[in-house]
Amino acid sequence: MRRGTALSVVALTLAALLVSPTDASARRARKKKSPARSRPAAAPSFDPRLPILGTKLAEFPPGPAKAVADQACLACHSVDIVAQQRLTEKQWGAELTKMAGWGADFPADRREELLGYLVKNFGPDAAPWEPVVTRPTGR
Ligand code: HEC
Repeated sequence: MRRGTALSVVALTLAALLVSPTDASARRARKKKSPARSRPAAAPSFDPRLPILGTKLAEFPPGPAKAVADQACLACHSVDIVAQQRLTEKQWGAELTKMAGWGADFPADRREELLGYLVKNFGPDAAPWEPVVTRPTGR
């Protein structure tokens, strides 16, 4: 081997030794990132089990008996289950008796007022119920 060639080999070997740690650390850096990249790419951007942040529950419509309804009816369920009904006075009467039996707490002397309020707002002639939209449709 000529002296020049020998020097070149030494120089190339040294260069390889100097370069390889950098390569190794680059590989380590890439490896560190891989767990993040291995997450499912098609992960949904929302959790379908949860309502959208900021969704507001419906409220009972205004009226003198709203406070009674708020206090007596919302302990166990939302307004929606009440507001989606279209019941006659007789049916609402039966509903109040049923709910009172289950624990709905309203003063006996406000029952007629509450009954009138329910019939007026959620009677057979009320406008169709509009559910609160809790997430964009079509998903
Ligand atoms: C102690 C808990 C409780 C309270 C308080 C309560 N409800 Fe209910 N209500 C329920 C339950 C439980 C259901 C679901 C019944 C079912 O799935 O059949 C229900 C269902 C309903 C329904 C749907 C029809 C039915 O009979 O299932 C209406 C209407 C209703 N409630 C009205 C009211 C009104 C009006 C009040 C207030 C005066 C009220 N509820 C208070 C427990 C309650």
